[in-house]
Amino acid sequence: MSAMNFIEQIRQRDRVFDFIQPQASSRLDVSHGNILYLEDISVSFDGFKAINNLNLYIKEGELRCIIGPNGAGKTTMMDIITGKTRPDTGSAWFGSRINLLELDEPEIAEAGIGRKFQKPTVFENHLVVDNLELAMAGNKSVITSLFARLSAAQKERIDEVLETIGLKDNKYRLAGSLSHGQKQWLEIGMLLMQNPKLLLVDEPVAGMTHQEMDRTAELLKSLAGQHSVVVVEHDMDFVRSIANHVTVLHQGSVLAEGTMDQVQSNPKVVEVYLGE
Ligand SMILES: Nc1ncnc2c1ncn2[C@@H]1O[C@H](COP(=O)(O)OP(=O)(O)O)[C@@H](O)[C@H]1O
Ligand SMILES: [Mg+2]
Repeated sequence: MSAMNFIEQIRQRDRVFDFIQPQASSRLDVSHGNILYLEDISVSFDGFKAINNLNLYIKEGELRCIIGPNGAGKTTMMDIITGKTRPDTGSAWFGSRINLLELDEPEIAEAGIGRKFQKPTVFENHLVVDNLELAMAGNKSVITSLFARLSAAQKERIDEVLETIGLKDNKYRLAGSLSHGQKQWLEIGMLLMQNPKLLLVDEPVAGMTHQEMDRTAELLKSLAGQHSVVVVEHDMDFVRSIANHVTVLHQGSVLAEGTMDQVQSNPKVVEVYLGE
């Protein structure tokens, strides 16, 4: 990478992390049990209803899997939660007090919703530990944080996250030298540095080995409880290995909800998947 590219990359990250504050989720009210409420949400693209009267509730601390055929609206749903796409109708609340439709993307991230995209976007030319440091909540500037001395608490937090994501022994390796699976975990770690309450994870095991998939399952399960985790995934064996509660999306609405066994034996679900 050229020096200019590198500086531009830093500047872009800087903009991304500028607004992230640790006290962000102080307004979050989950006393009614749910961390996310999507009600009667619809959105059309050129007359095509990608999301059609969607209702979805996520409980605090739960690990929910969202499945559904291609084009079901899974990614669009995540775009709505994170403010990337605005619905035409409906309401979206984070806890019972934060109206997501009144916030822009940075404000939603700041409020405590973290999103992991399919492709890992770690800083390949930096050490694993530096990637986590750069992602830390409350660091105003990447340039400053690169040269600042970390507090003991911050160092401890980095080690804690390294432990969680299983990269303790890779702390001083270049991120670019990690395996595909390890990069995915590092990026989850970078999200964790921002202390999100709700994590949205889009197709985490695409391209992973079986062993990496098993470790990813353990990682996501270990995050539930402390966080609420919504996972969109195609791999049914993987979904079965992590989820108690599965939601099937089809044509922008909820087709079925329940345990993996319940949804897989649901005739409507079987029909939709056979039609793929
Ligand atoms: N920005 C967009 N413009 C036009 N059509 C879109 C846009 N985003 C999604 N769609 C359409 O909405 C439908 C749902 O897409 P998506 O949410 O990506 O489905 P999934 O993630 O479940 O595969 C698809 O038919 C897709 O082509
Ligand atoms: Mg998608």
